Amino acid sequence: MNSQTGTPDHADTRVGGGSEIDHLLEETRRFPPSPEFAANAVAGAELYERAQRDREGFWADQARELLHWHKPFTQVLDWSMPPFAKWYADGELNVAYNCLDRHVEAGHGDRVALLWEGEPGDDRRITYAELTDEVKRLANVLTDLGIGPGDRVAIYLPMIPETVAAMLAVARLGAIHSVIFGGFSADSLRSRIDDAGAKLVITADGGWRKGKVSPLKPAVDQALGERNGLGVQETVEHVLVVRRGGNEVDWVEGRDIWYHDVVPQASAEHEAQPFEAENPLFILYTSGTTGKPKGILHTSGGYLTQAQFTHRNVFDLRPESDVYWCTADVGWITGHSYVVYGPLANGATQVLYEGTPEFPEPGRWWDVIEKYGVTIFYTAPTAIRGFMKQGRQIPQARDLSSLRVLGSVGEPINPEAWMWFREVVGAGACPIVDTWWQTETGAIMISALPGVTETKPGSAQVPVPGVSIDVVGEDGQHVGSGNGGLLVITEPWPSMLRGIWGDPERFRETYWEKFESQGYYFAGDGARLDEDGDIWLLGRVDDVMNVSGHRLSTAEIESALVAHEATAEAAVVGAADETTGQAVVAFVILKESYLRQHGPEGLAQQLRTWVGEQIGPIARPRDVYIVGELPKTRSGKIMRRLLRDVAEGREVGDTTTLADTAVMSVISAQVR
Ligand code: WT7
Repeated sequence: MNSQTGTPDHADTRVGGGSEIDHLLEETRRFPPSPEFAANAVAGAELYERAQRDREGFWADQARELLHWHKPFTQVLDWSMPPFAKWYADGELNVAYNCLDRHVEAGHGDRVALLWEGEPGDDRRITYAELTDEVKRLANVLTDLGIGPGDRVAIYLPMIPETVAAMLAVARLGAIHSVIFGGFSADSLRSRIDDAGAKLVITADGGWRKGKVSPLKPAVDQALGERNGLGVQETVEHVLVVRRGGNEVDWVEGRDIWYHDVVPQASAEHEAQPFEAENPLFILYTSGTTGKPKGILHTSGGYLTQAQFTHRNVFDLRPESDVYWCTADVGWITGHSYVVYGPLANGATQVLYEGTPEFPEPGRWWDVIEKYGVTIFYTAPTAIRGFMKQGRQIPQARDLSSLRVLGSVGEPINPEAWMWFREVVGAGACPIVDTWWQTETGAIMISALPGVTETKPGSAQVPVPGVSIDVVGEDGQHVGSGNGGLLVITEPWPSMLRGIWGDPERFRETYWEKFESQGYYFAGDGARLDEDGDIWLLGRVDDVMNVSGHRLSTAEIESALVAHEATAEAAVVGAADETTGQAVVAFVILKESYLRQHGPEGLAQQLRTWVGEQIGPIARPRDVYIVGELPKTRSGKIMRRLLRDVAEGREVGDTTTLADTAVMSVISAQVR
């Protein structure tokens, strides 16, 4: 154990290197909410008191006040079969009705739901009435295609309004969506389609990215076409294709259907049916510590309650007047909870932007904020650090005075980036909420409340009302203020994952086994409590990397590398990177047989490209080092800690447990 942080010493808690932690401990700046902000805030301190008095009663109140229930629930939490929770189990609701119809019925049909901006500069304003219509038509089309309750629908789309409509139409029918990020490869797409047994794929010809059309349908065609010999039964019956990029696409007659050929013609009459609160809503795949991504399963009533509750209270949302913008892609959990479900359940008006921050030039995001008068802006530290590099003159050339609340998510935010966000983007006045959560938690778990909390640059601070968090040692005991340890969630919460699709045992093992006797959920993150009891996240303690706020598994990238004909063995580490937080660095041993015929020239580059093709461009290693050996313990375990030292250009740490202590100097020399 490391005595300073209380985490196991293989732990990857060095966010930006060891000095970063010391640096965090010296952070003493404090930013209380302004008296005006506090006086008018949506959420006040009484929320904590109410939740403290009666946690389940608090979540029952939230579910009743925030959502429309076709059939009211009488039970709140059923925890009789841990770790399988049920929330509001005898209640019935329709998630899409809660995000759409009820706002129209309440007279808000003319309110803009989506302020969509395409990357080439085209735009569309879509009201709640219009979005409701579109979803009803699409629900009728999906019904005609045989989609009903419990069926799985894969969604592989760019950031366009149809993507939001597709998710809601699936939800409206009580079916289950599995959104696959458009940056994933055909291989990744195929394994996700197969794991979920999807019946339908909704995709587009392509979407705009960095000034060009980035094709999507070819990956779907490839994923569905390559099954021969795999022994996998084809489950996909149809592919529904949105025209966005205008690029040429291949067409499979009888399987493929253009969205525009069927949706506008369909009836806009569709009555939302109620489903049980525990009806599955979506599966979202995320990387774990093994090579196989996990299908995280979320259900309806509890998920929607906490997504809506946190979206309203953490961002101080006023649906009548705010213009909210979350920059996440809907292919990630942030896009599910804080682009689709939270904001729409709250009846918010939000920006949806298709492209990248730097097209046609680095100020594009600031132009979007100015054009739409964005008031609440939720983004990731990696983006902020990217903007810092480009210089403050770029945002300062725009009018950002509409902004009033700023949010951060995805990885620890370093105090420098936090201060820059506050001063340059928020004019020194907007509260910042640093929100910690995970694909598994479904919604925000740790965050300041902007009208209540005195914020500290770099700390995510306190659990949201109704959520119970602790920092514990390996023994499961609370570490106490001023100490570090492992982050755990000590009580079930409404938006918690209900399992891993098709693998209940992996669910138990991954999250619950470590602190089984206490019944705690183990998040996989290291954290520290300061003298006030505020929480500082220190990064993952397992073999999961965080690159630009995206979760990547070392094992998954290693298995892609060894699938290449040249590779004998591979080890991957996440090395500190100034912009992306961590970067993928691979150490590869080549096969002698391959080397005899080909030689190593150009291979590092080839392997980078290969990983990009196998998993997706986000997984492409920043560096690939060809080495002769890997550092292993006597029992054969690769010591990634030492490789990380090399990748970060540091003095190599303690090598005494290595089988061959000379190996590190050889590797260091080969890398140089
Ligand atoms: C992991 C979850 C939650 C949406 C985006 C990522 C890290 C997330 C923070 C934060 C420090 C953070 C954790 C977590 N993380 N937010 N505010 N401060 N770390 O979702 O892909 O499921 O990854 O992201 O390590 O475990 P995800």
